[in-house]
Amino acid sequence: MGAFQPLQQHQHGQKPSTPNPAAGYFLPRTVVTWLAVACLSLALLHLLCCSPPGGHQAVFAPLFQYFNGTYSSYISSGVAGAGGGGVERSSCDYSEGRWVWAPGHARRYNGTACNVKPEQDCIRNGRPETGYLDWRWQPAGCGLPAFDAAAFLAAVRGKHVAFVGDSMARNQAESLLCLLGAAFPYDLVGQDAEHYKRQFTRWAFPSHGVTLSTYWAPFLVRSGGKPFNYSMPYNLVYLDELGNRWDADAGTMDVVVLTAGHWFWNPTVYHRGGQVVGVHAHPELNNTEIGFTSPYREAFRKALERLSSDGRRRTVVLGTFAPPHFEGKPIFDPTALEVQDVTKLATMRPDGHPGPYMHRDPFAHGVPERMQTDCLHSCLPGPVDTFNEILLQILSRGR
Ligand SMILES: *[C@@H]1O[C@H](CO)[C@@H](O)[C@H](O)[C@H]1NC(C)=O
Ligand SMILES: *[C@@H]1O[C@H](CO)[C@@H](O)[C@H](O)[C@H]1NC(C)=O
Ligand SMILES: *[C@@H]1O[C@H](CO)[C@@H](O)[C@H](O)[C@H]1NC(C)=O
Ligand SMILES: *[C@@H]1O[C@H](CO)[C@@H](O)[C@H](O)[C@H]1NC(C)=O
Repeated sequence: MGAFQPLQQHQHGQKPSTPNPAAGYFLPRTVVTWLAVACLSLALLHLLCCSPPGGHQAVFAPLFQYFNGTYSSYISSGVAGAGGGGVERSSCDYSEGRWVWAPGHARRYNGTACNVKPEQDCIRNGRPETGYLDWRWQPAGCGLPAFDAAAFLAAVRGKHVAFVGDSMARNQAESLLCLLGAAFPYDLVGQDAEHYKRQFTRWAFPSHGVTLSTYWAPFLVRSGGKPFNYSMPYNLVYLDELGNRWDADAGTMDVVVLTAGHWFWNPTVYHRGGQVVGVHAHPELNNTEIGFTSPYREAFRKALERLSSDGRRRTVVLGTFAPPHFEGKPIFDPTALEVQDVTKLATMRPDGHPGPYMHRDPFAHGVPERMQTDCLHSCLPGPVDTFNEILLQILSRGR
């Protein structure tokens, strides 16, 4: 908690026409360019490596087809809440649109006050320009209302909202905590021991009986190796086993946001039935290279099966960041499923990453020769807050 002081407006000579990663940096021009190019090329690489020829729609088409079917049952059974309450049930494609300049729109909280991961607390880390907070996502065919903490808490009153997945899931969970926490009091009610503390965190909003949790499960299914010890050379993944922790709590979850992706591209040894069934990006092991799309699909399917196996009505939201080439049609009648497709809007915002501002005052001693940068996560506050604006719309339209 903590009172939110509006952040200082940066000086813009004129309205920029697109989010400009370099705007307003008080840094040598070469650094600025380098930073912009680094994050931009990463974004492009991300899009290219994840998109088969045919582009974005082709990537997600099978997924959307699959969700269209369940969406109608979702509406008719009113799974996400009682009553219609006059909420318009139009569906809007939030994944298509553009960023429009809206000064101050994204200056919604103080990341330090809500204890975001220090590497994503860009303002505290000394990021000099804050123009990346002056943009609003404008979907192509509808409006996207600004985040409304009271509406969000009302939509999930008495419920347990869980973010399960990798650091992108945690990034969004911390954004949600800050967005809600800027308006309502909350308590930290659960956390792992110091070293692993951001692998599991739980907060409570007593005013609405809402619990918010984040679970570290970068492969959704059980994993070991590098995700739990960065000195290990590769990941160990057990495709037919759940874990590492969220499975035990799944029975208490009412809204589940599943977001996982980028870990699947790293060197990994995959297991099924206790046997090694293949590897990815790890030729030294002389095992079959199985790529990452089929394990990805299998892991998501396993997680979705778990969330539909206990008869509890819940809403599952898939955050799409990597290529979910879903096939087939697993059974999950009791579970309402939604897609939060943020790939495009995120890809268009290379300026919203911490870049070098994952560390405090990275240029205090001039421009270092080598510098660690983060072009994956979002600054908090930052573009990831928009994901939660979309999440609110997804949750409200089921009411
Ligand atoms: C399913 O979704 C796709 C993509 O949004 C849309 O083009 C299509 O018309 C939808 N199909 C049905 C049956 O609603
Ligand atoms: C953010 O909060 C921290 C700690 O609560 C405080 O020290 C800092 O001044 C605040 N920053 C702004 C811009 O309000
Ligand atoms: C992490 O892995 C390294 C290398 O295998 C090992 O030496 C170290 O003890 C492990 N650390 C923990 C906390 O398990
Ligand atoms: C993999 O195969 C190569 C070439 O046949 C061999 O030299 C190496 O020892 C093998 N590695 C393992 C882990 O079996």
